[in-house]
Amino acid sequence: MAFIVKKTINQKDYYYLNENNRIDGKVKTKTIAYLGKTKKEAGKKAKEIIDKIKIDKMKKQDIKNKSEEKTEDNKNFQEVNLSNNLSIEDMASFCKRKGFVYRSGDIYGGLAGFWDFGHLGVELKNNLKREWWNFHVIKREEIVGIDGSIITNPRVWESSGHVASFVDLAVVCKRCENKTKIDKHEFGNVFCEKCGGEFENKGEFNPMFTTNVGPIKEDSILSYLRPETAQLIFTNFKFVYDNARLKLPFGIAQIGKAFRNELSPRDFLFRCREFEQMELEYFVDPEEKCQYEIGDAKILVYSAEMQEKKQEPIEMSFKETLKKKIIITDWHAYWLEQEFLWFIGLDANPSKFRIRQHIKNEKSHYALDTWDLEYKFPFGWKELQGMANRTDFDLKQHQEHSKVNLEIINKENKKILPHVVCEPSQGVERAFLVFMFDSYFYDDKRKNIVLKLHPKLAPVKAAVFPIVKQSELENIAESICKKLREEDWNIVYDKSGSIGRRYARNDEIGTPYCITIDGDSFKNKDVTIRDRDTTKQIRIKISELRNVLRMLINREVDFEKAGKLVQ
Ligand code: GAP
Repeated sequence: MAFIVKKTINQKDYYYLNENNRIDGKVKTKTIAYLGKTKKEAGKKAKEIIDKIKIDKMKKQDIKNKSEEKTEDNKNFQEVNLSNNLSIEDMASFCKRKGFVYRSGDIYGGLAGFWDFGHLGVELKNNLKREWWNFHVIKREEIVGIDGSIITNPRVWESSGHVASFVDLAVVCKRCENKTKIDKHEFGNVFCEKCGGEFENKGEFNPMFTTNVGPIKEDSILSYLRPETAQLIFTNFKFVYDNARLKLPFGIAQIGKAFRNELSPRDFLFRCREFEQMELEYFVDPEEKCQYEIGDAKILVYSAEMQEKKQEPIEMSFKETLKKKIIITDWHAYWLEQEFLWFIGLDANPSKFRIRQHIKNEKSHYALDTWDLEYKFPFGWKELQGMANRTDFDLKQHQEHSKVNLEIINKENKKILPHVVCEPSQGVERAFLVFMFDSYFYDDKRKNIVLKLHPKLAPVKAAVFPIVKQSELENIAESICKKLREEDWNIVYDKSGSIGRRYARNDEIGTPYCITIDGDSFKNKDVTIRDRDTTKQIRIKISELRNVLRMLINREVDFEKAGKLVQ
């Protein structure tokens, strides 16, 4: 702590700034600075010096924190390499280090179950949602989209059964105190997944967040933050059917936020309190067969019967699941296969997927039959996507409670309430995790992480480097960036550090292509493109760059055939 002292020598005043320090148990005073001859001058100077000391201290602490953070990251980094088996915590640490995902409100300690997406995370998430939308809506004639509100008339949730039946049982393990939720009917039959201990019943809870609509308390109404996007599709069903001039079978899709006040949010993005869903309600006449081909894609199948008989899952095609009557309805088998193919088409690892049927007591209040698309996360096989046969449950409920007729005309000109035989319902955050896990490789030769994200998902489509800092090369690089950004691609311009370091930086964030402008570029008007996954390089004319890159991103051309291979 610094303080001002006045010394009078020969009847003249001199002001100094002193500081006390405890050294070997004794307090020693040290003069830090001379402050002048007047009190006013001394006070002003002292303030300036003390402020500077404070800033220097903060800077030192900042450097210390950063180096500790780095050591912590390096520790994780090495563990990742050594174990070659990435845990969910390793993934969370990687996502934070690289700017994909942070704890929400991290500088205040975060809030369990809430996450913020950083500059790369938001790009990956947007790309992923766009791919889902393209696959399910844009590329199909019979599916259209909506965007409903997060808060709606609470009667929606009363009619859908969410107020009365969207209820779980809060339990705590008597042995390890693990808090979790189970289905009401499971109490006494299931045990702690961490230690096998018995559960203590802590009572029922409804995970819907409540809120008051209206600023004056007495006049406000109690409503809910939507726990699923599906209900707004059902309540808008008739409008959309009329306006979009749809004919059965047809689908209505939606991507948007959902909220659940989970008892114990955990496993990074896997179980959050605020998340996004990509949902499709596919309406059919239950009398009508699926008109689309069910293909030969193979997957591990784990039916309710197999689970009850304690058998292992069996690999078979979706076609076979129908033939063997493991999946009963053709529409269900069709959409399960489509959802699996969506993931595989974006480079997810097929061997980490399986479909599992819900057992008797596991089904939601609205479901006749449910199959989950499951993924092998580091913490086990878990639900990635729920696909319930909701029958006409929801439309019937809303018709009954709203007294609005929701029937539509089928092919025979009969009025019917269509069925939702399969409702692909995918959490964005869980899909995000799948693509991160399946693209995460450590390259021993390069000695760095290579995030092999599908180019369509990659947050940065290309990085552009002038090989050295030279104005001619920099000008070419900048004009290339400008041109490529016209395609609505996220392009990075990077001129700092060695070329190897720049490659490594981009490998780690999944940039599929690095474009280098070198000495020959000026003369020949060409550049090299380096492929992230193979490190091979091709040389192409700058005038062709935009087209070639588009074809590469869309996987319409093999890398080596897209230009002249650099040997
Ligand atoms: N409309 C049906 C429905 O909401 P669900 O199985 O409860 O069904 C669908 O949820 C999907 O939403 C899940 O398969 C999962 O991908 C995602 N999801 C559900 N709860 C989640 C949570 N707490 N955190 C992250 N994603 C979640």
